[in-house]
Amino acid sequence: MKHLLKLLDLDRQEILDILDLADKLKYQTHHNIPHPILEGKTLGMIFQKASTRTRVSFETGMYQLGGYPLFLSANDLQIGRGEPVQDTARVLSRYLDGIMIRTFAQKEVEDLAAYGSIPVINGLTDFCHPCQVLADLLTIREKKDTFEGLKMCYIGDGNNMANSLIVGGLKVGMQVAAACPDDYQPDPEVMAFAKNDGNFSITNKPIEAAADADVLITDVWSSMGMEAEIEKRRIAFQGYQINDDIMAAAHTDAMVMHCLPAHRGEEITEKVFEAHASEIFDEAENRLHAQKAVMVKLMMPDAE
Ligand code: CP
Ligand code: NVA
Repeated sequence: MKHLLKLLDLDRQEILDILDLADKLKYQTHHNIPHPILEGKTLGMIFQKASTRTRVSFETGMYQLGGYPLFLSANDLQIGRGEPVQDTARVLSRYLDGIMIRTFAQKEVEDLAAYGSIPVINGLTDFCHPCQVLADLLTIREKKDTFEGLKMCYIGDGNNMANSLIVGGLKVGMQVAAACPDDYQPDPEVMAFAKNDGNFSITNKPIEAAADADVLITDVWSSMGMEAEIEKRRIAFQGYQINDDIMAAAHTDAMVMHCLPAHRGEEITEKVFEAHASEIFDEAENRLHAQKAVMVKLMMPDAE
């Protein structure tokens, strides 16, 4: 693994290896066992969109690994004034040991990796959110001990989260049922990957997707960059909500996850959110551990 650009690029074993290392790093973190594996290394973190979790977990994670994170707001970089990503990639490769980027177009992340000579980590694009889904898989395995025989249900927009959950869930062997409105389907590349997998199903009826689910996941109706569509989407997504009816269709011990930020009363009710807050905030914490594992794998592959 040279980069983390999208989960489609990883095989099952690479995903499981990241999760195993994340478990180990989580244990060390919780027991105050120092693990300065990336001492002397630097990570540039480019943000073209807002972030709470991604920024703080990468920054803290890099510090805990003994390295140095640089927060690079796109507004302050020449990239924000039109310097091509191809040039930015080649310049930053001369200074840094790794780059994390959150942006709009997946192509920008792929170009950064293609033109640079250091590992690139996708911290969210319009297409996918691989770091989040690695943390989600870590959380599922932590709570359920296995992926075997488990059903994941995603309800909502066929967005970056849907794309990564479908790919990640199928790659580790889960059954994945998605419920998305007809006009808001997952990306065609993801559908092409999933459509021949007997573990995948998609419907526009949330209650059907939720039947016997072990894990229920949703995300905002309007992602970052879609602010102009908020009203239109609020209408299109009516009914695409994790609520008591959905919980009743799922297994009684079903867990609920949300990448956050959440809009209570839209994609999830306040009641369900608070009843599953421990899972949701464990999921948020696991961003830290999963990303530390990714950084070690990419920036110090022989460290373990
Ligand atoms: N879930 C997630 O990526 O959160 P942030 O947008 O706060 O980074
Ligand atoms: N789908 C959301 C995820 C936020 C972490 C967005 O892209 O805004």
